[in-house]
Amino acid sequence: MRSLTLNLKDHSYEILIKKGILKNIGDELKKVVKGNKVVVLTDSNVDRLYGESTIQSIKNAGFTVDKIVFKAGEESKSFETVLDIYSKLASFKANRTTTLITLGGGVVGDMGGFVASTFVRGIPFVQIPTTLLAQVDSSIGGKVAVNLPEGKNLVGSFYHPDAVFIDTDALNTLEDRVFNDGMSEVIKYGCIKDKQLFKKLLSFKDIEELKENLEDVIFNCCSIKKVVVEADEKETGERMLLNFGHTIGHAIEKYFDYKEYTHGEGVAIGMNIITALAEKDGLTEPGTTEIIKKILIKYSLPLEVKGLDVDKVIDIIKLDKKNLEKDLNIILLNKIGDSFIHKLNNNNLNSFFKI
Ligand code: GLY
Repeated sequence: MRSLTLNLKDHSYEILIKKGILKNIGDELKKVVKGNKVVVLTDSNVDRLYGESTIQSIKNAGFTVDKIVFKAGEESKSFETVLDIYSKLASFKANRTTTLITLGGGVVGDMGGFVASTFVRGIPFVQIPTTLLAQVDSSIGGKVAVNLPEGKNLVGSFYHPDAVFIDTDALNTLEDRVFNDGMSEVIKYGCIKDKQLFKKLLSFKDIEELKENLEDVIFNCCSIKKVVVEADEKETGERMLLNFGHTIGHAIEKYFDYKEYTHGEGVAIGMNIITALAEKDGLTEPGTTEIIKKILIKYSLPLEVKGLDVDKVIDIIKLDKKNLEKDLNIILLNKIGDSFIHKLNNNNLNSFFKI
């Protein structure tokens, strides 16, 4: 078992990483939940695997519990679903002493957090992330959001959970592609902040060896995120480093209308391309792209997209909500484990992004 505390000015919470914790989640919740009523929010896939046992454990701990299940998938991360969740919470007579438990991947956590931040002006919530991506990234740091037809995560806020419970056993049921999706963010942490983590990931002889060390690897990632979020909760500086690979990654996801590449795959391509461009411009230590390629191949992540219309990608980057200022903040590596924010004037995007 590993744990850490994320300390913010007016809110602190524990992140507990423990194999099998889901089986006794009721007892863990008792330590952090104040009222005696909870509502579990989950999606249809996770419900099928863990819904019943989770509800039973929570009941055994003495809580009154209701459950809300929505259809699994990114399409559900919408205001239509949010309205449905609000209605169900109202019908369960949820109030500010009710805790919302988000059990699932990024969609459940982000949207559940948004609901928690707004229902009756805010109710407590606890994150139980069940995908690798959610365990190392989206469940930590308080970013909650819903998609609009105009774009992903366009409405949201910063609203932190009261605790995050991470069960590495939940990863055993993930399809390989979903697991690798999360590995892209794990690799990102190594690239931006932790050369030792990067080396460790390269040294595992196979996925089995990685899985034997997952608790440590996840702890490593969460520790990095904790420090970054504590330093810059609202992403005005340091937190931007977590977006390494994301500028191009988001654009590629959108280019294919979110149908071709997962978030992690987009980020993998983004990390490779942005590092190649920076290396070409003398901004990154020579050889860094090669080693990034090596690690992405090892974890079955894509490196590039053939036949991409670069002008169209640049247009998408310009329209991204994060890139509306005069200067685009892109994250580059000095070398593996050492990253920096590079300001690029919007007028210079074309020359930078064209190889
Ligand atoms: N996913 C990046 C962040 O939380 O800032």
